[in-house]
Amino acid sequence: MRHTRLKLADNTRKTAIDLLQRTLADAIDLRLAVKQAHWTIRDPRFQQLHEFFDSLVEPLDEEIDTMAERIATLGGVPDGRAIAVGQSSRLDPYGTDVVSGDDHLEALADRFATLGNHVRESIDLADEAGDADTADIFTSASRYLDKTVWFLEAHLSNDASGLKAAS
Ligand SMILES: [Fe+2]
Repeated sequence: MRHTRLKLADNTRKTAIDLLQRTLADAIDLRLAVKQAHWTIRDPRFQQLHEFFDSLVEPLDEEIDTMAERIATLGGVPDGRAIAVGQSSRLDPYGTDVVSGDDHLEALADRFATLGNHVRESIDLADEAGDADTADIFTSASRYLDKTVWFLEAHLSNDASGLKAAS
């Protein structure tokens, strides 16, 4: 860990860097999954969903960039290499057999929710470690991830939660 003029204890910085690095790998993996869905979908709603999936990439890239730059700010070395992502992502590998719009929506909703739950846990852990700024980054990412789960679920043809709420 590099020296920095920031008045944060070494163990605070180390904990925050570790939390950010794990989430960075997950988020890059998720970003690739979104592109996979954008490229492989075959569905009567192709145009709509093809464009919808692509619209998720830019905000996800912003979260990724913010996390990576916070690692660098704290004196760490962000590792966004494919090999690091492949080794440490906690998301299930995205299937190459996912084709229909609903299957992509479900697969992406599962992964956005998984990452959202990891990030939610990280808010408290960063806070407990004494880094309110990293906790704030996780809070913002969590809000984006939760909202995207809502977007994805709202596109599903037979969203179980929607049907339940209507009955
Ligand atoms: Fe494209």
